[in-house]
Amino acid sequence: MGSRSVMWVLSLAFMSCAVQVLGQDQLRFKDGKFEITVFSDLHFGEAEWTDCAECQGYDQKTVAAMNRILDKEKTDLAVLNGDLLSGEAMHAGSNLGNHIDRMLRPLVDRNVPWASTYGNHDRDRYADPNVILAKEQSYNSGTKRAHTRKQLTGADANVGATNYYLPVMDTSGRNIALILWFFDSRAGNALQTGNALDRSVAPEVVEWYKKQQADIRKIYGKDFPSIAFVHIPFKSARDLQARRKENVAAAPGVDREGVDYQGRACPTCTYTGSDVSFAQALVDTPNLIAVVSGHNHKVDWCMKWGNDRPLASNPSKGNGVNVCFGRRAGYGGYGKDLQKGARKILVREDRVKNNEVETWNRLEFGAISGRATLNSTYGMDKYPAAQE
Ligand SMILES: *[C@@H]1O[C@H](CO)[C@@H](O)[C@H](O)[C@H]1NC(C)=O
Repeated sequence: MGSRSVMWVLSLAFMSCAVQVLGQDQLRFKDGKFEITVFSDLHFGEAEWTDCAECQGYDQKTVAAMNRILDKEKTDLAVLNGDLLSGEAMHAGSNLGNHIDRMLRPLVDRNVPWASTYGNHDRDRYADPNVILAKEQSYNSGTKRAHTRKQLTGADANVGATNYYLPVMDTSGRNIALILWFFDSRAGNALQTGNALDRSVAPEVVEWYKKQQADIRKIYGKDFPSIAFVHIPFKSARDLQARRKENVAAAPGVDREGVDYQGRACPTCTYTGSDVSFAQALVDTPNLIAVVSGHNHKVDWCMKWGNDRPLASNPSKGNGVNVCFGRRAGYGGYGKDLQKGARKILVREDRVKNNEVETWNRLEFGAISGRATLNSTYGMDKYPAAQE
């Protein structure tokens, strides 16, 4: 074997460790497009509050909303971006699995694969991330439906569960066109009782993220366009929210509450700054197009974190990454006056190379709100006001 073929064999072996072996389970663009529908804050399980009469119908209504949205939005991957459950409503002996089955039915019926991140209410009293993950993965016999994984091993209290990434292949199936990153918010009462955990993505996760990126760069010699999902945003999102007032038309969306963020150590909820290393790792990522969060039920815009001036919570400047929130999709949880919806992300193979995607919120009863192109002039282009 010449040294070139040795290198080739070595890099193939390395590749199969670092990046999942290519096969029929791979996510893939179809006819030049990859369409993602993000359901955040589904909040299933509130019917377990037996003293809440109106909660009894929430899950059925949420399923109907998911069905209506999926009827309108072609979806190659659904992302369940945290707070799948309202763990605080659930009780001992609650059948968590039934809630997950109900939630996944609209996806299974349509053969839509999904990938989840877990949020604070998925780790609350009787909601247990390890049980949710096992239940999701039980759908994988035969056909791969659940792409949710725990790629970084470690105790849930230390690193959380849903830290992983998924490469998406181009239409030909030969090349990676996009990488999707998922981070666990490592939050919830189950972890916060009696200690100082503050809902930040764990330092071990930040190190893992940097290492995976470095490995990918070593193998392929480049940084692929990517999108990240995390339920609770970092504090810079709050600073961007303050800046949004300077030019509302440039960041169309609903903005009806102050953004709640990582790094607040409750019960006193003082800001510790522990989210800065995560935010820094993201702005150090070349070709990261957007970071998409939920958690804040009444916020659904995208703001570009540019490099024009630093934010208060982070001395470094941004890299042009778009900090996005999705319309909340579930009937449970606060903020009931807002129509339910989901953030759609339309990725085109020819445009994602320039770090460009199109996005909007599809509302339950058919409207599209806050449609925008996240391109190099996003943040300067003007858009019509969002629909509430
Ligand atoms: C970005 O997208 C907007 C909306 O489609 C468009 O008006 C603008 O010209 C685009 N900017 C660039 C640099 O293509």
